[in-house]
Amino acid sequence: MAIEDKIKELLQKREEARMGGGEKRIESQHAKGKLTARERLELLLDDGSFEEFDMFVSHRCIDFGLENEAYLSDGVVTGYGTIDGRLVYVFSQDFTVFGGSLSEMYARKICKIMDMAMKAGAPVIGLNDSGGARIQEGVKSLGGYADIFERNILASGVIPQISGVFGPCAGGAVYSPAITDFILMTKETSYMFVTGPKVVKSVTNEDVTTEELGGASIHTAKSGVAHFACDDDQEQIAIIRKLISFIPQNNMEEAPRIESNDPIDRLEDMLNDIIPENPNKPYDMKEVIHAVVDNGEFLEVQRNYAPNLIVGFARFNGQSVGIVANQPSYLAGVLDINCSKKGARFIRFCDAFNIPIVTLVDVPGFLPGTAQEYGGIISNGAKLLFAYGEATVPKVTIILRKAYGGAYDVMGSKHLRGDLNYAWPTAEIAVMGPRGAIEVLYGRELSKKDSEQRGQFISMMEDEYRKKFATPYVAAKYGYIDDVIEPRNTRFRIIRALQSLSTKRDSLPMKKHSNIPL
Ligand code: HXC
Repeated sequence: MAIEDKIKELLQKREEARMGGGEKRIESQHAKGKLTARERLELLLDDGSFEEFDMFVSHRCIDFGLENEAYLSDGVVTGYGTIDGRLVYVFSQDFTVFGGSLSEMYARKICKIMDMAMKAGAPVIGLNDSGGARIQEGVKSLGGYADIFERNILASGVIPQISGVFGPCAGGAVYSPAITDFILMTKETSYMFVTGPKVVKSVTNEDVTTEELGGASIHTAKSGVAHFACDDDQEQIAIIRKLISFIPQNNMEEAPRIESNDPIDRLEDMLNDIIPENPNKPYDMKEVIHAVVDNGEFLEVQRNYAPNLIVGFARFNGQSVGIVANQPSYLAGVLDINCSKKGARFIRFCDAFNIPIVTLVDVPGFLPGTAQEYGGIISNGAKLLFAYGEATVPKVTIILRKAYGGAYDVMGSKHLRGDLNYAWPTAEIAVMGPRGAIEVLYGRELSKKDSEQRGQFISMMEDEYRKKFATPYVAAKYGYIDDVIEPRNTRFRIIRALQSLSTKRDSLPMKKHSNIPL
């Protein structure tokens, strides 16, 4: 064969691989409002940066007629490329080939890029759209999944792993995304569940649709499994690119620092007035976040899940940070089971990847009640405490208003190795709120009074308690607070704090691993 013919053959094979399961199936993918595996990669990666591997791989199955049906690439597109010039390894499942189902060779392709990503110290982004284990391949497919799981586990905390879910992700297949750091889903077209609606009906007799069982809104608002619900594939890919911009390549590096044009000493006068006179009135903590971070840019993670705690990424003077903040406008910013899990996982991600944590505190305590106790608020609340206490990255904490009880300790306090702890003059730091405190301290006296006397007594004692304890100065007196700062100057103080901590080194005692209360 002449070289021209050989090259022609190569180009033909490439074209064949690019067509996946064929035109009809591509059309049907588009008709569902979904992009194809390759279209997603084109949007995800910088123009012309994609280097594909294993285009000529096909399956080795000779059962159920598969000996006569094979497609180049075998249902998954793999390789590397760049996002804003930074290396990432990618796999993108191709639903047009056997429903994107996973075969032995398909799994090997994914494992190959994961191994390369670990060696290069670069993130792995998996774009999922698959009918699960390729039924014809049986245990080889199951083994393939577990080979991927093991790599996900070993890569955890070493390189960032991001899962985009664009279509089905069912059965054991859900566990690879579940192990990764962030899951994004497209509304309406993607779903994740361990067993589908039919099995649910036969086992529990529940009638449930695919969307109700495992759609994007369920997983981002109810189960907390996923972190971002996106309107379409395009939006999902844009968020993955943004997420990558905030995080480092691996656990030995820091997140990229970008040039910031937002003045570091920008004063925000509105912050001096944001705390309402009445301590029981809410305000929106997101206004505070937007006011202090660079250019008001904040990428919120798990926006719709446990909104009483806000977590997400932002920058101060171009440096990436993780923000953890109580939200007084939702359940008064109380700590509960769900928000403790959400906060703990986020803090552990930041700590693993050298991203400083800035905590904004306004928390009345832990949520009381049987639902919380039966659900294990003790061990779940301990996760948040554990995550803060274990984190060795720079930790800057600002107490804006309430920091009561155990929640004071938990929320990035000095005692859990908080590095710089500031309070606004409006801070109230005490064992409990005035009302509860008076009722406990003066219970016997109160029981002897009629209701009018009770009211007067409580309000008098509340005033006294508030003057004495509901201020930042008792904590400041003991050095638990490094300084009381003017609210409008918060941005500058955080930036200075982060600068002073840029060379911070801290460590944990030698151990195999900790035993966080899971
Ligand atoms: C082989 C599969 C497949 C699979 C789909 N296809 N799933 N081939 N193995 N698991 C093929 C179909 O035969 C079809 O081929 C094409 O993909 C598209 O599938 P459709 O059913 O036509 O598409 P749609 O109506 O959109 O339905 C998608 C689906 C459905 C909901 C994913 O295909 C489905 O329920 N598939 C089976 C899901 C499943 O039970 N998987 C195993 C889960 S257990 P043609 O040739 O017609 O285009 C599991 C264990 C993992 O994954 C364990 C890890 C530890």
